[in-house]
Amino acid sequence: METRLLEGYNCIITGSNRGIGRNIVEKFAANGANIWACARRTSSEFEQDMQDLAKQYQVTIEPVYFDLNSEDEIKQAISMIRKTKKSVDVLVNNAGMPYGALLQMTPLKDLKEVFQVNYFSQIYIMQLVSKIMMRQDRGSIINMASVGGIETNPGYLAYGSSKAALIWATRSIAKELGRYHIRVNAVAPGLTETEMGHYKSEEELQKVIDRTGMQRMARPEEIADAVLFLASEQASFVNGEVLRVDGGR
Ligand SMILES: NC(=O)c1ccc[n+]([C@@H]2O[C@H](COP(=O)([O-])OP(=O)(O)OC[C@H]3O[C@@H](n4cnc5c(N)ncnc54)[C@H](OP(=O)(O)O)[C@@H]3O)[C@@H](O)[C@H]2O)c1
Repeated sequence: METRLLEGYNCIITGSNRGIGRNIVEKFAANGANIWACARRTSSEFEQDMQDLAKQYQVTIEPVYFDLNSEDEIKQAISMIRKTKKSVDVLVNNAGMPYGALLQMTPLKDLKEVFQVNYFSQIYIMQLVSKIMMRQDRGSIINMASVGGIETNPGYLAYGSSKAALIWATRSIAKELGRYHIRVNAVAPGLTETEMGHYKSEEELQKVIDRTGMQRMARPEEIADAVLFLASEQASFVNGEVLRVDGGR
């Protein structure tokens, strides 16, 4: 039998209902993790899917709901998790939103929303969860950044700068929390086969694929593998790192 890398860990994963997040939930469950699977809103399909995964891998998966636009909802959700008195071993800040527009086509209102979802809410979740982890003197946080926060192109103002800020926060917070045995890392995927991956036009997608060494998009499970590595003890001395998973761009 294969070693289950997260046996008995308790993990919070945001954006669990689809795309990369759904793949992280399955990968973590297959590795023995119990999961608080966070989604924006309740749905019976999601709840059924989580129940099926829990049964398949003999772990517990509890749906938790909050919108990253609502600080109150985030606070209530993390407070509910804290009140279970279970350890929180891993936080995966995966949920995020795409946005593509040139400078003159980016109203400040939109820019603020992108930063709320892709940056401020992620910081707020880290503030609340790291408090629990500091008391435990243990934890691992993985933020979902993007190659778009490292390289730039026209139209990347909002999305790219929100992810660049998240990368900077990851590196900065890693230096603060290392002394509490909390590792903070980021994964920076290239184009990945999800709804967000197809946010660009077919022509733009092809251009990115052409300049990718592997000449294809990532499969979401390939991104989940990188998250699993960072969450596990296999990465016990990896801290403040931004792991590109982009097929060689
Ligand atoms: N796909 C790519 O090519 C790619 C590349 C680099 C980085 N990434 C990053 O990877 C992460 C996952 O992306 P994905 O490709 O899996 O995208 P996706 O399939 O579009 O899924 C996005 C997830 O984020 C959730 N979300 C978005 N806004 C939210 C909000 N306000 N409150 C709560 N949840 C919210 C969505 O929930 P709903 O279902 O309710 O909308 C969904 O679960 C994101 O951070 C993204 O920026 C993706």
